[in-house]
Amino acid sequence: MHSIFALKGHLIDCDHNKRTRFHPNSYLLIEQGLCVGTFAQLPDCYRHVPVIDYGDKIIVPGFVDLHLHASQYANRGLGLDLELLQWLEKYTFPQEGKFADLHYARTIYAAFCRELIRGAITRACIFATIHIPASLCLMDMLEQSGLIAYVGKVNMDCNCPDFLRETGAAQAAANTRQWLTEVADRNYRRVKPILTPRFAPSCSPDLLRRLGQLAQTQHLPVQTHLSENLDEVAWVRQLYPQSPHYAGVYAQFGLLSAHTPAIMAHCLYLQPQEQELLRQTGTFIAHCPSSNANLASGIAPVKRMLDAGIPMGLGSDIGAGHSMNLLGLTAQAVACSKLLQRQTAEESALSLEEAFYLATRGGGAFFGKTGAFSPGFAADVVTLDDSRIRLPGETLAQRWQKLFYLGDEREICAKYVAGTPIRLQA
Ligand code: GUN
Ligand code: FE
Repeated sequence: MHSIFALKGHLIDCDHNKRTRFHPNSYLLIEQGLCVGTFAQLPDCYRHVPVIDYGDKIIVPGFVDLHLHASQYANRGLGLDLELLQWLEKYTFPQEGKFADLHYARTIYAAFCRELIRGAITRACIFATIHIPASLCLMDMLEQSGLIAYVGKVNMDCNCPDFLRETGAAQAAANTRQWLTEVADRNYRRVKPILTPRFAPSCSPDLLRRLGQLAQTQHLPVQTHLSENLDEVAWVRQLYPQSPHYAGVYAQFGLLSAHTPAIMAHCLYLQPQEQELLRQTGTFIAHCPSSNANLASGIAPVKRMLDAGIPMGLGSDIGAGHSMNLLGLTAQAVACSKLLQRQTAEESALSLEEAFYLATRGGGAFFGKTGAFSPGFAADVVTLDDSRIRLPGETLAQRWQKLFYLGDEREICAKYVAGTPIRLQA
């Protein structure tokens, strides 16, 4: 690929106020993997750069999935008539236990990566399992794909079946250090490790403390679950009666702080003090509307938390979420927030523009300047051919709306990550 080139088409992205910007028939100029800017006409000094002309196609920033479990890929769509804690016991833990077998892991992770590559996602934050070889296998495959990802070897040492339990806090922390060493030896360019205590109930206080120390001393990012389900929240209150709230448990151990970037998946039932803690520390919420509906966890008050200034993006939460189609997930975020508004007078709904922001620029911010076509942003780009969907006479704004409700990977015809084209099919 040339170090400087332009893509031409109907460009659509978000500004920092979450408003959608439409640039019909325009050029996105890319230099050294970064956006230079959008132009109706290429400036004279760039007249000779190579142009890839996508004609009447729509060009949007790459979508960011802030929360999914690659190890649950085979389970998507299964057992979703249960609620969280029963679903974990009956379906999820037995499934994750199978990743002790590297051969099995390789098969499932290959299928997972194929679908990830084919879809609208350019960056993702992914849970693997407790198993080191399988987690490394997933990281190797992702590095090959050209996508950018954080991957976490999961930690859990209590309240889980023996076949999926690390034997004690010291051993669990040692496993994670060993995994980090092996990751460092591989010198990945695009895939990075992220500390991944599963959630407070499945980690002993000693393990949370050790992981918090690791996060602080090695400046590692953290991902976990927070306040997803009412039974889970009650359980954490029982386990940590001294803690003012669920988020306080992670904060107490250094896993939720201003010093290390962190993603908390779900956040449905946060107290005002917990929301304030997230805002003050710049901690991201991964909003997972499909998962929350499937497990009947409830509806997150996303509009309120977004307006409060808490960093936020979307998560498919495969396998509690059943689909990696981030276009559809964006529409579902709007639908869920409208249901909450219907139920609760003081909540308001997300607009589609705000949901598009969450799916691109909102989640992209976890990776730095990512998720928009502004100057200096990483050139993560998805090109969509909506000819299967569109009808004659539709405006660009109508075509853009319909993509979220009717579009899927069939519309995707090209994808770039930091200016590098991705091979959509292996
Ligand atoms: N809480 C702890 N583990 C999980 C998981 O695998 N999925 C979801 N949705 N919530 C969790
Ligand atoms: Fe999850």
